Amino acid sequence: MARLDGKVALISGAARGMGKAEAQLFAAEGAKVAVCDVRDDEGKAVAEAIGASAIYQHLDVTNEDEWAAAVAATTGAFGKLDVLVNNAGIGDGSPLAEMTLENYRRVTEVNQTGVFLGMRSAVAPMKDAGGGSILNISSIDGMIGMDLCTAYVASKWAVRGMTKTAARELGPFGIRVNSIHPGFIHTHIGAGDEPGSLEAVREIVDAHTEKLAPLGRTGKPEEIAKLALFLASDESSYSTGSEFVADGGLIAGYPPPGMA
Ligand SMILES: NC(=O)c1ccc[n+]([C@@H]2O[C@H](COP(=O)([O-])OP(=O)(O)OC[C@H]3O[C@@H](n4cnc5c(N)ncnc54)[C@H](O)[C@@H]3O)[C@@H](O)[C@H]2O)c1
Repeated sequence: MARLDGKVALISGAARGMGKAEAQLFAAEGAKVAVCDVRDDEGKAVAEAIGASAIYQHLDVTNEDEWAAAVAATTGAFGKLDVLVNNAGIGDGSPLAEMTLENYRRVTEVNQTGVFLGMRSAVAPMKDAGGGSILNISSIDGMIGMDLCTAYVASKWAVRGMTKTAARELGPFGIRVNSIHPGFIHTHIGAGDEPGSLEAVREIVDAHTEKLAPLGRTGKPEEIAKLALFLASDESSYSTGSEFVADGGLIAGYPPPGMA
Protein backbone atom coordinates (compact mmCIF):
# COMPACT_ATOMS: atom_id res chain seq x y z
CA MET A 1 0.00 0.00 0.00
CA ALA A 2 1.32 3.45 -0.93
CA ARG A 3 1.77 6.06 1.78
CA LEU A 4 -0.99 8.42 0.57
CA ASP A 5 -3.47 5.91 -0.81
CA GLY A 6 -7.00 7.34 -0.63
CA LYS A 7 -5.85 10.90 0.15
CA VAL A 8 -6.75 14.02 -1.83
CA ALA A 9 -4.29 16.92 -1.75
CA LEU A 10 -4.36 20.53 -2.93
CA ILE A 11 -0.93 22.13 -3.42
CA SER A 12 -0.52 25.85 -4.10
CA GLY A 13 2.41 27.08 -6.17
CA ALA A 14 2.82 23.61 -7.67
CA ALA A 15 3.92 24.61 -11.18
CA ARG A 16 7.54 24.85 -10.09
CA GLY A 17 10.07 24.10 -7.39
CA MET A 18 9.07 22.36 -4.19
CA GLY A 19 5.33 22.43 -4.94
CA LYS A 20 5.91 20.57 -8.20
CA ALA A 21 8.12 17.98 -6.45
CA GLU A 22 5.42 17.51 -3.80
CA ALA A 23 2.69 17.05 -6.43
CA GLN A 24 4.77 14.41 -8.23
CA LEU A 25 5.73 12.53 -5.05
CA PHE A 26 2.24 12.66 -3.51
CA ALA A 27 0.74 11.25 -6.72
CA ALA A 28 3.42 8.54 -6.87
CA GLU A 29 2.43 7.61 -3.32
CA GLY A 30 -1.22 7.15 -4.24
CA ALA A 31 -2.76 10.59 -3.69
CA LYS A 32 -5.08 12.49 -5.99
CA VAL A 33 -3.59 15.95 -6.43
CA ALA A 34 -4.87 19.40 -7.40
CA VAL A 35 -1.91 21.27 -8.88
CA CYS A 36 -2.62 24.97 -8.32
CA ASP A 37 -0.63 28.00 -9.45
CA VAL A 38 -0.75 31.27 -11.37
CA ARG A 39 1.65 29.89 -14.02
CA ASP A 40 -1.05 28.11 -15.99
CA ASP A 41 1.02 26.58 -18.79
CA GLU A 42 3.63 25.12 -16.44
CA GLY A 43 1.02 23.97 -13.94
CA LYS A 44 -1.04 22.22 -16.63
CA ALA A 45 2.11 20.46 -17.84
CA VAL A 46 2.82 19.20 -14.30
CA ALA A 47 -0.75 17.85 -13.96
CA GLU A 48 -0.75 16.30 -17.43
CA ALA A 49 2.55 14.53 -16.78
CA ILE A 50 1.11 13.04 -13.58
CA GLY A 51 -1.98 11.83 -15.47
CA ALA A 52 -5.45 10.91 -14.21
CA SER A 53 -4.50 11.37 -10.56
CA ALA A 54 -4.05 15.13 -11.05
CA ILE A 55 -6.00 18.19 -12.14
CA TYR A 56 -4.70 21.68 -12.76
CA GLN A 57 -6.55 24.64 -11.27
CA HIS A 58 -5.59 28.30 -11.62
CA LEU A 59 -5.17 29.76 -8.13
CA ASP A 60 -3.77 33.12 -7.08
CA VAL A 61 -3.43 32.55 -3.34
CA THR A 62 -4.21 36.22 -2.61
CA ASN A 63 -7.71 35.88 -4.06
CA GLU A 64 -10.40 34.42 -1.81
CA ASP A 65 -12.81 33.67 -4.68
CA GLU A 66 -10.09 31.67 -6.41
CA TRP A 67 -9.49 29.71 -3.18
CA ALA A 68 -13.20 28.82 -3.09
CA ALA A 69 -13.03 27.76 -6.74
CA ALA A 70 -9.88 25.67 -6.17
CA VAL A 71 -11.38 23.81 -3.23
CA ALA A 72 -14.62 23.26 -5.21
CA ALA A 73 -12.62 21.97 -8.21
CA THR A 74 -10.68 19.58 -5.96
CA THR A 75 -13.69 18.18 -4.14
CA GLY A 76 -15.62 18.12 -7.43
CA ALA A 77 -12.93 16.05 -9.16
CA PHE A 78 -11.90 13.79 -6.28
CA GLY A 79 -14.78 13.89 -3.76
CA LYS A 80 -13.02 15.38 -0.70
CA LEU A 81 -9.96 17.24 0.63
CA ASP A 82 -7.52 15.62 3.09
CA VAL A 83 -4.26 17.52 2.59
CA LEU A 84 -3.47 21.17 1.91
CA VAL A 85 0.06 22.35 1.19
CA ASN A 86 0.28 26.14 1.45
CA ASN A 87 3.45 26.31 -0.62
CA ALA A 88 3.13 29.33 -2.95
CA GLY A 89 5.54 32.09 -2.03
CA ILE A 90 7.69 34.89 -3.37
CA GLY A 91 10.94 36.41 -2.15
CA ASP A 92 12.16 39.92 -1.62
CA GLY A 93 15.58 41.45 -1.59
CA SER A 94 16.08 45.08 -0.70
CA PRO A 95 17.55 46.96 2.24
CA LEU A 96 15.01 48.00 4.85
CA ALA A 97 15.64 51.68 4.15
CA GLU A 98 14.82 51.19 0.46
CA MET A 99 11.98 48.68 0.68
CA THR A 100 8.81 50.15 -0.81
CA LEU A 101 5.49 49.80 0.95
CA GLU A 102 4.14 48.25 -2.25
CA ASN A 103 6.82 45.54 -2.16
CA TYR A 104 6.27 44.90 1.55
CA ARG A 105 2.53 44.55 1.00
CA ARG A 106 2.92 42.27 -2.02
CA VAL A 107 5.17 39.82 -0.16
CA THR A 108 2.84 39.87 2.85
CA GLU A 109 -0.17 39.36 0.63
CA VAL A 110 1.21 36.25 -1.10
CA ASN A 111 3.23 34.63 1.70
CA GLN A 112 1.07 35.46 4.72
CA THR A 113 -2.46 36.34 3.60
CA GLY A 114 -2.29 33.51 1.06
CA VAL A 115 -1.64 31.00 3.85
CA PHE A 116 -4.46 32.42 5.97
CA LEU A 117 -6.93 32.17 3.07
CA GLY A 118 -5.75 28.65 2.25
CA MET A 119 -6.14 27.36 5.79
CA ARG A 120 -9.56 29.00 6.14
CA SER A 121 -10.75 27.45 2.85
CA ALA A 122 -9.68 23.98 3.95
CA VAL A 123 -11.50 23.89 7.29
CA ALA A 124 -15.01 23.00 6.07
CA PRO A 125 -14.00 20.29 3.56
CA MET A 126 -11.54 18.76 6.04
CA LYS A 127 -14.22 18.66 8.72
CA ASP A 128 -16.45 16.94 6.16
CA ALA A 129 -13.64 14.43 5.49
CA GLY A 130 -13.34 13.71 9.21
CA GLY A 131 -9.89 15.30 9.54
CA GLY A 132 -6.90 16.38 7.50
CA SER A 133 -3.34 17.65 7.38
CA ILE A 134 -2.34 21.23 6.57
CA LEU A 135 1.31 21.94 5.76
CA ASN A 136 2.44 25.54 5.75
CA ILE A 137 5.73 26.20 4.00
CA SER A 138 7.57 28.75 6.10
CA SER A 139 11.39 28.95 5.96
CA ILE A 140 14.42 29.09 8.20
CA ASP A 141 13.59 32.78 7.79
CA GLY A 142 10.61 32.04 10.02
CA MET A 143 13.07 31.20 12.81
CA ILE A 144 15.92 33.67 12.35
CA GLY A 145 16.45 36.89 10.39
CA MET A 146 18.14 37.45 7.05
CA ASP A 147 19.55 40.69 5.67
CA LEU A 148 17.55 42.37 2.87
CA CYS A 149 14.43 40.32 3.59
CA THR A 150 12.31 42.29 6.06
CA ALA A 151 9.01 41.50 4.36
CA TYR A 152 9.90 37.87 3.63
CA VAL A 153 11.12 37.20 7.17
CA ALA A 154 8.03 38.88 8.65
CA SER A 155 5.74 36.77 6.47
CA LYS A 156 7.52 33.52 7.33
CA TRP A 157 7.43 34.20 11.09
CA ALA A 158 3.72 34.92 10.65
CA VAL A 159 3.21 31.56 8.96
CA ARG A 160 4.96 29.83 11.86
CA GLY A 161 2.68 31.58 14.35
CA MET A 162 -0.55 31.04 12.42
CA THR A 163 0.32 27.35 12.19
CA LYS A 164 0.29 27.00 15.96
CA THR A 165 -3.01 28.84 16.43
CA ALA A 166 -4.66 26.82 13.66
CA ALA A 167 -3.30 23.59 15.17
CA ARG A 168 -4.93 24.46 18.49
CA GLU A 169 -8.28 25.43 16.96
CA LEU A 170 -8.49 22.55 14.49
CA GLY A 171 -7.02 19.69 16.53
CA PRO A 172 -10.43 18.78 17.99
CA PHE A 173 -11.65 18.15 14.43
CA GLY A 174 -8.76 15.82 13.62
CA ILE A 175 -7.08 18.45 11.45
CA ARG A 176 -3.32 18.65 12.00
CA VAL A 177 -1.36 21.79 11.06
CA ASN A 178 2.44 21.89 10.87
CA SER A 179 5.06 24.19 9.40
CA ILE A 180 8.04 23.22 7.25
CA HIS A 181 11.18 25.37 7.41
CA PRO A 182 13.44 24.74 4.43
CA GLY A 183 16.92 26.19 4.18
CA PHE A 184 18.35 26.99 0.74
CA ILE A 185 16.82 24.75 -1.92
CA HIS A 186 17.42 24.66 -5.69
CA THR A 187 14.23 26.21 -7.08
CA HIS A 188 13.26 29.32 -9.06
CA ILE A 189 12.73 31.60 -6.06
CA GLY A 190 14.94 34.67 -6.13
CA ALA A 191 15.70 34.23 -9.84
CA GLY A 192 14.09 36.12 -12.70
CA ASP A 193 12.91 34.53 -15.94
CA GLU A 194 15.70 36.05 -18.05
CA PRO A 195 18.29 33.59 -19.49
CA GLY A 196 21.12 32.77 -17.11
CA SER A 197 19.54 34.27 -13.99
CA LEU A 198 18.67 30.88 -12.45
CA GLU A 199 22.26 29.67 -12.90
CA ALA A 200 23.65 32.92 -11.47
CA VAL A 201 21.50 32.67 -8.33
CA ARG A 202 22.43 28.99 -7.91
CA GLU A 203 26.12 29.76 -8.03
CA ILE A 204 25.81 32.33 -5.24
CA VAL A 205 23.56 30.09 -3.13
CA ASP A 206 25.81 27.03 -3.59
CA ALA A 207 28.88 28.99 -2.49
CA HIS A 208 26.95 30.08 0.61
CA THR A 209 25.71 26.61 1.63
CA GLU A 210 29.06 24.95 0.85
CA LYS A 211 30.69 27.29 3.31
CA LEU A 212 28.04 27.59 6.03
CA ALA A 213 25.80 24.51 6.10
CA PRO A 214 27.21 21.51 8.01
CA LEU A 215 26.05 19.22 5.17
CA GLY A 216 27.95 21.49 2.77
CA ARG A 217 25.41 21.77 -0.02
CA THR A 218 22.13 23.28 -1.20
CA GLY A 219 19.00 21.15 -0.80
CA LYS A 220 16.87 19.59 -3.54
CA PRO A 221 13.10 20.12 -3.91
CA GLU A 222 12.65 16.35 -3.62
CA GLU A 223 14.18 16.41 -0.12
CA ILE A 224 11.51 18.84 1.08
CA ALA A 225 8.83 16.82 -0.73
CA LYS A 226 9.81 13.74 1.31
CA LEU A 227 9.33 15.68 4.55
CA ALA A 228 6.00 16.98 3.24
CA LEU A 229 4.99 13.40 2.40
CA PHE A 230 5.59 12.34 6.00
CA LEU A 231 3.50 15.24 7.33
CA ALA A 232 0.73 14.68 4.78
CA SER A 233 0.50 10.99 5.64
CA ASP A 234 -0.89 9.28 8.70
CA GLU A 235 2.70 8.41 9.69
CA SER A 236 2.81 11.84 11.39
CA SER A 237 -0.51 11.25 13.18
CA TYR A 238 0.66 12.67 16.54
CA SER A 239 2.38 15.79 15.16
CA THR A 240 0.55 19.09 15.10
CA GLY A 241 1.50 22.71 15.75
CA SER A 242 5.12 21.72 15.17
CA GLU A 243 8.08 23.04 13.21
CA PHE A 244 10.06 20.78 10.86
CA VAL A 245 13.39 22.18 9.71
CA ALA A 246 15.26 20.82 6.64
CA ASP A 247 18.26 23.08 6.06
CA GLY A 248 21.41 20.97 5.95
CA GLY A 249 22.09 22.15 9.50
CA LEU A 250 22.42 25.80 8.49
CA ILE A 251 20.73 27.27 11.58
CA ALA A 252 22.02 24.68 14.04
CA GLY A 253 24.69 27.10 15.22
CA TYR A 254 27.72 29.07 14.11
CA PRO A 255 31.47 28.55 14.19
CA PRO A 256 33.63 29.96 16.95
CA PRO A 257 35.66 33.12 16.25
CA GLY A 258 38.44 32.52 13.74
CA MET A 259 36.96 29.32 12.31
CA ALA A 260 34.35 30.62 9.82
N1 LIG B 1 13.89 27.72 -2.36
C1 LIG B 1 14.26 28.06 -1.15
O1 LIG B 1 15.47 28.18 -0.87
C2 LIG B 1 13.22 28.27 -0.06
C3 LIG B 1 13.65 28.27 1.26
C4 LIG B 1 12.72 28.40 2.28
C5 LIG B 1 11.37 28.51 1.96
N2 LIG B 1 10.98 28.52 0.65
C6 LIG B 1 9.54 28.63 0.41
O2 LIG B 1 9.13 27.50 -0.36
C7 LIG B 1 7.93 27.81 -1.06
C8 LIG B 1 8.05 27.34 -2.50
O3 LIG B 1 9.00 28.14 -3.17
P1 LIG B 1 10.08 27.55 -4.19
O4 LIG B 1 11.39 27.73 -3.56
O5 LIG B 1 9.67 26.23 -4.68
O6 LIG B 1 9.98 28.68 -5.33
P2 LIG B 1 9.55 28.65 -6.88
O7 LIG B 1 9.64 30.07 -7.30
O8 LIG B 1 10.33 27.64 -7.64
O9 LIG B 1 8.03 28.18 -6.81
C9 LIG B 1 7.02 28.99 -6.25
C10 LIG B 1 5.73 28.79 -6.99
O10 LIG B 1 4.74 29.64 -6.39
C11 LIG B 1 3.98 30.22 -7.42
N3 LIG B 1 3.34 31.47 -6.99
C12 LIG B 1 3.91 32.68 -6.77
N4 LIG B 1 2.97 33.58 -6.42
C13 LIG B 1 1.79 32.93 -6.40
C14 LIG B 1 0.46 33.30 -6.12
N5 LIG B 1 0.12 34.57 -5.79
N6 LIG B 1 -0.51 32.35 -6.17
C15 LIG B 1 -0.20 31.07 -6.51
N7 LIG B 1 1.03 30.66 -6.82
C16 LIG B 1 2.02 31.58 -6.76
C17 LIG B 1 4.98 30.45 -8.56
O11 LIG B 1 4.33 30.63 -9.81
C18 LIG B 1 5.82 29.18 -8.48
O12 LIG B 1 5.30 28.15 -9.29
C19 LIG B 1 7.73 29.32 -0.89
O13 LIG B 1 6.77 29.56 0.11
C20 LIG B 1 9.10 29.81 -0.44
O14 LIG B 1 9.03 30.99 0.30
C21 LIG B 1 11.87 28.41 -0.37
